[in-house]
Amino acid sequence: MTLKRVGILTGGGDCSGLNAVIRAVTRAAVIQHGAQVVGIQNGFDGLVTGRTMTLDTAVTRDILTLGGTILGTTNKGNPFAYRELNEDGTIRVSDLSDKAVQTVRELGLDCLFVVGGEGTLEIGYKLQQKGVPMIGIPKTIDNDLEGTDYTFGFQTAVQVACDALDRLHTTGRSHHRVMLLEVMGRTAGWIALEAGIAGGAHIILIPEIPYDIRHVVRKITLRAQGGSPFTIVMVAEGAVAVGGSAITQEAATTRLQGVPQLGGVGNYLAGLIKQEIDLEVRTTVLGHIQRGGSPCAFDRVLGTRLGAAAVKAAAEGKFGHMVALRTPDIVLVPIAELAGVVRTVPPTSQLIEAAEAIGINMGRARM
Ligand code: F6P
Repeated sequence: MTLKRVGILTGGGDCSGLNAVIRAVTRAAVIQHGAQVVGIQNGFDGLVTGRTMTLDTAVTRDILTLGGTILGTTNKGNPFAYRELNEDGTIRVSDLSDKAVQTVRELGLDCLFVVGGEGTLEIGYKLQQKGVPMIGIPKTIDNDLEGTDYTFGFQTAVQVACDALDRLHTTGRSHHRVMLLEVMGRTAGWIALEAGIAGGAHIILIPEIPYDIRHVVRKITLRAQGGSPFTIVMVAEGAVAVGGSAITQEAATTRLQGVPQLGGVGNYLAGLIKQEIDLEVRTTVLGHIQRGGSPCAFDRVLGTRLGAAAVKAAAEGKFGHMVALRTPDIVLVPIAELAGVVRTVPPTSQLIEAAEAIGINMGRARM
């Protein structure tokens, strides 16, 4: 069918490549269909508040290389469980999904493109079940989405973390220090693992392999005894000790986002290591630097391909699907199949095997 009017929103945490997708969806809808394109602002929040903007080829000019999202985003605006602060600081939760559906109807959208991670796509799919025709476009730096080889934003984050490791290497070696780098990824270790390998880390700690601090200390000690009194440790924010749990900055209950804020494991580990070793230990927390800035070439290409494929899928009436990379193709995956599954690093991953084969310590005795 020919698309007359489509909408697009970006939900959840931002990442590099969102604007590449917005540009591709807009250009494909305009060029292939002569369609009008409505940008829903601030994720699903825009469907509740009615905040929108017009997108066309002029508005999306020059945004391919731009980080962030020109539409704005939020992970606080789930219309099914809309969270607002009461005056006394408590949080009230209400179901405003009918309002969101009504906004889509009033806008007269043939399709709503929902760009987001697992949580955002799930909300989009629930709206579809209430009559909103939607197509999902997967994004997240965490790369933890089922059904796709990679999400856009991930490779950029890996490159940023790798660059950081390169810099920590030179200063760490000069000062004979143990340098820890804490990276994002929530409960998945993809960023830490890929960037750690790319950046020549000596120790990589990921949530999927609970660490034993004795193995971490042993690796550092052996390196020092062997004449290398510096060690690079890559640690995922969700890393856990054997029998322990992830370290959080803030609990889910007090956050409008409704999920805990992870972080702090780098400094925690530094404290443990300092007790055992007579070397200086320093921690760098990379934080949102991984999410900001210009997308790498891979993410620009992936974002463009996904955007164009999403418009094609909408014209074919393939609602309720997400577009996904199954190298070398872009395929359609029913969102129902994702079922809230978080794709973590499998224990049998060849990435882990390669890392341990070349002597990288993963916080455990060598396999
Ligand atoms: O899911 C993307 C991500 O960047 C995670 O890696 C990280 O734990 C989280 O979002 C941080 O979220 P926020 O910006 O809301 O603190």
